[in-house]
Amino acid sequence: MIHFKLLNEKEHLHATHKGTGAWFNTKTLSVDIGQNPVLILRAPDGSLGAAISSNDTANGYKQAMIDHMESALAKFLREGFPAESLESAMLGGADNSGWKWDRMLEIALKAALNPKKYDEGGLYYRTIHFEPKAGLATVSRKKANPHDCNPASAQLSLESGTKGFSEGNAGGVVANATRFFRQESTFTALREVVIPAHLAETPDEPFLFWSAACSGGAEAYSYAMYIHRTLTRAKATCPFKVFATDINQKLIESAKIGEYRASKSDIKDFKAYFQRYGAIDGDTVRFGKEIQRYISFSAFDLKQRPRKKGFRMVVCANVFQYYDDGARTHFLENFISAVRRPGYIFVGPMRDPIIHALGLKKLTKYKMFLAE
Ligand SMILES: C[S@@+](CC[C@H](N)C(=O)[O-])C[C@H]1O[C@@H](n2cnc3c(N)ncnc32)[C@H](O)[C@@H]1O
Repeated sequence: MIHFKLLNEKEHLHATHKGTGAWFNTKTLSVDIGQNPVLILRAPDGSLGAAISSNDTANGYKQAMIDHMESALAKFLREGFPAESLESAMLGGADNSGWKWDRMLEIALKAALNPKKYDEGGLYYRTIHFEPKAGLATVSRKKANPHDCNPASAQLSLESGTKGFSEGNAGGVVANATRFFRQESTFTALREVVIPAHLAETPDEPFLFWSAACSGGAEAYSYAMYIHRTLTRAKATCPFKVFATDINQKLIESAKIGEYRASKSDIKDFKAYFQRYGAIDGDTVRFGKEIQRYISFSAFDLKQRPRKKGFRMVVCANVFQYYDDGARTHFLENFISAVRRPGYIFVGPMRDPIIHALGLKKLTKYKMFLAE
């Protein structure tokens, strides 16, 4: 039996390739994982746990890092636990480190692990406190932004993995993290496929878009601005509307106000949009009536039957990871019943058998599904 110990920072840098971390111990460990995804795993009896992460900022993992992560994993597996008996989870980083998530997942799958996935493209700077014995990974935000409605911490239980995060003491509630122009592939899809399809098939009919689980509304404003700009550029005459819903009434109320504290990088990246459709005042962005009239905000639980139909596109981003396959299938069935054909649906990654059973087609380039 090899005994692993928690490496201190100095040893860790010495023992691992620059920027890549693999931490092992038998009791607890706390690690700053920044914006990066982390793979955590524990032995069935909780006697051993590991967290494997990388804070490399290059555009791709260097081969040395991949080798390092693979050997860290192999070391763990050599303890004599078959991969299928290990509990493992992938905890996502920010959207801009999505590629790291994909590579790390590849490494895990190659080692025959099938980690449960949480919060892909979700929280920002985080510290993870991991207790293999208890099967608990507690995630704390280092930099909590009071305006993004996020609680400061979340807890993930590996033992009851399908339940997902429970935030603070609220129990069973998912994170509310959101950002402007978050799911890049869906904006590309709107421009390249969805709006052109709508204009080709039904140029005079309203273009209806559903931002399902819109949190504080940054998502809905982003789509409304983008659709408005794209339709205007295409000299389209059809009306359009973004229906934005969330289970959380408080978030809906704040979304209706349309006032956001934006980060410096958002103001830099989306300045043209903010100025065109609202006003920037220091770090505050206020949307104006012109764009607000294209959005309808209301409270809605995805478990309910959709109140409205005829959507050309539904985006339900960063929600499915908190639900099990049964709930995901139910939500997807609701979306399928609410879209016109061809209908475009974004919900993040879904298992192939479910997609096939529901008769959806994959649009791999856009990470979306097509209902024909
Ligand atoms: C992580 S946020 C994602 C927000 C936004 N879609 C984005 O990607 O930026 C998850 C949101 O899902 C909402 N949510 C969770 N379960 C829901 C349900 N059953 N029905 C409607 N909204 C739900 C939460 O209130 C929260 O605002």
